[in-house]
Amino acid sequence: MTDTPSLISPTPTTRSDDRFPAILGMMASGSGSNFEAVARSIDNGDLNAKIAVLIHNKPEIKAIERAHQRGIPTVFLDHRNYPTREELDRAIVTTFRAHQVECVVMAGWMRVITQVLIDAFGDRIINIHPSLLPSFPGIGAIEQALAAKVKITGCTVHLVSLEVDAGPILVQAAVPVLADDTAATLHARVQIQEHLILPQAIEMLASQLRLAQLRR
Ligand code: GRF
Repeated sequence: MTDTPSLISPTPTTRSDDRFPAILGMMASGSGSNFEAVARSIDNGDLNAKIAVLIHNKPEIKAIERAHQRGIPTVFLDHRNYPTREELDRAIVTTFRAHQVECVVMAGWMRVITQVLIDAFGDRIINIHPSLLPSFPGIGAIEQALAAKVKITGCTVHLVSLEVDAGPILVQAAVPVLADDTAATLHARVQIQEHLILPQAIEMLASQLRLAQLRR
């Protein structure tokens, strides 16, 4: 795999004030490499936060193993057990509240969320998407970029709104598309950037929360 640098390098995070770590509730449906990147940034002191719990909606995904290796509790909420999206979101909110979660991070969460989650956490919900939004929202963002024959794609971290893969953009990183790229090679390079920008975006949100706490 070629480790091509991104065209736009995200600004490095500065070491943060370690009072008031932001309490994160993370959600994943897959490998959890973004979950791991967030956990590593916390370990490095680049992100002043604590992951309280990981919610997953699929059994036996790698994200569970990554969480358990770090002693982070996991909760399995199988979407098939909830007749509506709202009911699943109510269970998510209950779980996060039980863990005193302040910020929600959708790190590869493959379900559409509802007003229930937004009512509970407002503008403290973050999502990561593998394209330069607003281009290529929805599923298959990498394949969409290849089909459109764009020369540059990338990834976006944004605040979540009801519209899928929309909402105010926090951080983006650009990744060149190479002539011989497959979906796998391109996604691998996009993920290198995702692992940089997701912790940065969380720290942006966490520092706002800390400011609010210091002002109290
Ligand atoms: C990432 O590419 C993310 O942008 C998308 O889902 C993927 C999750 O990857 N929403 P991982 O499970 O964090 O490895």
